[in-house]
Amino acid sequence: MRLENKASARNGVDPVEEGVAYVYDALLGVDEPRLPVMPQSARRIQAALLRGGALDTRKVSGLLSADPGLSARLLRLANSPLFSDMGTARTPRQAIALVGEVLIQRMLCYAATDSLYHASSPTTAPWFNCVLEHSQWVARTAYALATLAGWERTRCVEAFVAGSLHDIGALVALQILEQRPDLASDKKIVAEIVMQTHCKAGALLAEAWHLPEPYREVIEHHEQPIRLAADASEALSLLEVVQCADLFHGRCPAVHSHAALKRTRCKTRLGLPPDWELEKDPAFQGAFAQAHALL
Ligand SMILES: [Fe+2]
Ligand SMILES: [Fe+2]
Repeated sequence: MRLENKASARNGVDPVEEGVAYVYDALLGVDEPRLPVMPQSARRIQAALLRGGALDTRKVSGLLSADPGLSARLLRLANSPLFSDMGTARTPRQAIALVGEVLIQRMLCYAATDSLYHASSPTTAPWFNCVLEHSQWVARTAYALATLAGWERTRCVEAFVAGSLHDIGALVALQILEQRPDLASDKKIVAEIVMQTHCKAGALLAEAWHLPEPYREVIEHHEQPIRLAADASEALSLLEVVQCADLFHGRCPAVHSHAALKRTRCKTRLGLPPDWELEKDPAFQGAFAQAHALL
């Protein structure tokens, strides 16, 4: 939907078009794409994890120990109720042994994005907070929906991480727009520019950061219409779970618009009755609360 904002048009140029062009130029212009850099410690750990062959646990745990923020997050995951049946971890090395290499890598993707939520001006700070709040809600909802669907633990955590990452491109677009305070001060203009650019911006970031393929698909395609499986028994995909979680949220105006019809479609795809309300489903609420441990 194109927002009319003739009052803000300067020299006949639509400010939304101007902003979208500005963001794309920063991302796809002749210069190097203006993308945030993955934090160094996360990059090193990721390289060790993606190296192939047997995991060098000693090296990875050493790198984790050097980053108190990352190791604290990992220990919180390992000692959360999700893994209460597995024992207790007091060190990164014990945490790796407890939750496994796959989940370490998944949580690393999530933790590495912490640095993207910092606004450089008071004007844009509310937008970053809005995306953070929305992403955390979608992450927990995706986890809960995956739990209701009967997915096993690792895939539920994967749904959480995919939910947390799905709008990561909005942060990239917002960071670029911070260079244009004339555009960034108008809420409607910012919302429309971010809406039009965040999937592409996220896809470029995901590629540059070597995020796993399932997350790349979610980041790039989550705004596409919800597909109804031809066969209702067709397995739910990670993309569909995140799309449904995204649509159930009250929405961050920077990133989305409401759509009750789409929510009905989601319920059909999830095998839920049309009058299902997540607030009134104890199983959903239990899983949603459990996912708090992952934040
Ligand atoms: Fe989005
Ligand atoms: Fe979203």
